Parts: sequence; structure tokens; C-alpha cells
Amino acid sequence: MESDVWGRMEDGRVVRRYELDNGKGLKAAVTDFGATLAGVETPDRSGRMADVILGYDACEGWFSNPSYIGSTIGRYANRISKGRFVLEGATCSLACNNGPNHLHGGQEGFDKKLWTGTPQEGVEGVRFSRISPDGEEGYPGNLQTSVTYLLTAENELGILFEATTDRTTIVNLCNHAYWNLSGDPSRPVTNHLLRIDSDAYLPVDGTSIPTGERRPVEGTPFDFRTLMPVGSRIDAEDEQFRVGNGYDHYYLLGPGRGLRRAAKVMEPESGRTMEVLTDQPGMQFYTANHLNGGEIGKGGVPFQRRCAFCLETQLPPDSPNQPGFPSPVLRPGETYRHQIVFRFGVAE
Ligand code: BGC
Repeated sequence: MESDVWGRMEDGRVVRRYELDNGKGLKAAVTDFGATLAGVETPDRSGRMADVILGYDACEGWFSNPSYIGSTIGRYANRISKGRFVLEGATCSLACNNGPNHLHGGQEGFDKKLWTGTPQEGVEGVRFSRISPDGEEGYPGNLQTSVTYLLTAENELGILFEATTDRTTIVNLCNHAYWNLSGDPSRPVTNHLLRIDSDAYLPVDGTSIPTGERRPVEGTPFDFRTLMPVGSRIDAEDEQFRVGNGYDHYYLLGPGRGLRRAAKVMEPESGRTMEVLTDQPGMQFYTANHLNGGEIGKGGVPFQRRCAFCLETQLPPDSPNQPGFPSPVLRPGETYRHQIVFRFGVAE
């Protein structure tokens, strides 16, 4: 593993970049700014390596990063209706930074913080940690948080999120990588084949808050139970597409909280494949509907609409306000834990 100074923040603090290499065809770059996944290189079927996530060439790109490209999201990933929830009888108020709702941790979430990186002994891994102070962005409790990135010899990238608190709070951390397995971000991801191991998703209201209904995917454009092109039904007539302008919905992964497969993706031309495993109850599937070419990424390529997809394993959106959803509450003495495995390969 190699670590280098990548740049400096405006206040002079040093930003570092760490390069991980499993020596078997999987490389990743991570940075302590936002505990961010900055790059993932994998081979195609002819062995040609390419970077398969969106990002910026310079670390300064991540300082504004309005679309949360590659970042760790916290303290609560996704939306909380009206930025309000009740915890142990007290109302907590958070910034409404997405229309009427709170999104991805607020004005300055975990993605905009400098973390402390610690290379892990004897493995290709780095652990980032930070304490989110009591009251940060309106969330109660000092939250001791860590995010560990690790490459395995089996061409897996593992991410482990952990957190503890000294006051009852809510936690929902996620990684916000934008994938394009072709390795060419100027191409839309509509050709990627996707399977999601889910038979129900959460429809949303006009502000992207779940209505509370669990809707079967059967017979809808949301059915990815068998490998289907991402774009084959993305422009279908479905009222749910009008809200998010494409897929921007939470899929329920069924009962159980052990590590299990959530999705598989295959890019037909390169042959690159990726499986996603998680211990979370579901994930947000987002087809980069809000990217509009206004920002420039690696190699000078603008981020265009649908040039990537996100599979964000996490708790359901607005879970602090929806009694039927798994609870995001973390109490003193408990440990929040969230594991993801991205497993890479090539199709025969
Ligand atoms: C959300 C989108 C949002 C995007 C921001 C995703 O996690 O589901 O609605 O626009 O993050 O980059």
C-alpha cells in the first residue's frame, strides 16, 4: 500500500491519498477527505485495466463534490422528511438541504470532513476514523465513526462502517460510489445488465420520501430479479419515474441481516462483472439522473445524466419517521455495523 500527500484544504490541512493493490488485478484509491473511494481499477476480459468509478483528477474536485461522488455519507444517508424526527420524546431538527427534506447528512456531511487514515497491518487496507461531535448538523451525541476499506486476494473490495455513541442518536452510513463498468464514463450505463435480489421496493412521494408502501416489483419496470439491461425500461410510463427522473428508489432485500448477495452487474462489452453483498436490509438504486454535464471528472470527461449508477446499501430512507421500517437508532453501549463487499470478475 502506498500513501501520498494529495493536496491541502483551504485551512492548510493535508489531504492524503492511499493506493491499494491486491496484486491480482484489483486496485483502489481512497482518500481521507470524506473517507472517499476515489478510484477502482479492474481488468476487462482482455486484461485491460480501467477505472470503473466516477471521480475527479485532483483532490480539490472533492471539496465541492455536490453529487457525493465516491464519498462516505453520514450521519444519515438519504432523506429524512422535513429534516425532523422524534427521538426519546425530543424533536430533532436538521437542515433541509434537498427541497423540503434533509439529504445525506446536511449542509456539511461526513463527505466534506477530513478523516484520520490508519493503514491496516499486514493487509491492503486503510481505516478512516473521526468523531462527529454532539450537535453536528443537529444530530445528538458524539459519534465515534470508522470506515475501513480492504482488498482481498479474491478480487473483493470490502467496506466496513462502524459507529458508537455517548447519547442516543440515529446512524445510517453508506458509500456513494458511481459505477460505470465499461471504464469509459462518457458512455451511458443503460447497456449494463443488472440483477437485484429483491422482490419489493419503496415507492416515493413527489419529494422522494417513501410513502410507506412496499410495492412488489413483479410486472413493473422495477423488476430486476433476472439480469436485465439498466435502460430497457428506464423511460417507461411509470409515475415513479416522474419523481426521480429514472431509478432513484430503495429496494428491500428480504429478511435476515447476515452478509448476502444484493446485486450483480455485468457490462457486456468489457465483460466486467460486479457482485454486491451486504448485511443491510436494502439499498438505493440510483441511475445518476441529476448529473447534467455541469461538472468535469477524471480525464476531463463531464458527468452526464445516466453515465453511472449507484447501489447504496443502507437503511430505508426516512426510517426515523416510519415505524414500519428498520430502526436507525443507536444507543450508548451499542455498535452500529454495516458491511459491503464488491466482488469483481469477468464474464466468460
Ligand atoms: C439520492 C438521489 C440524490 C443523489 C445525490 C442519491 O443517493 O438517492 O436522490 O440526487 O444521491 O447525488
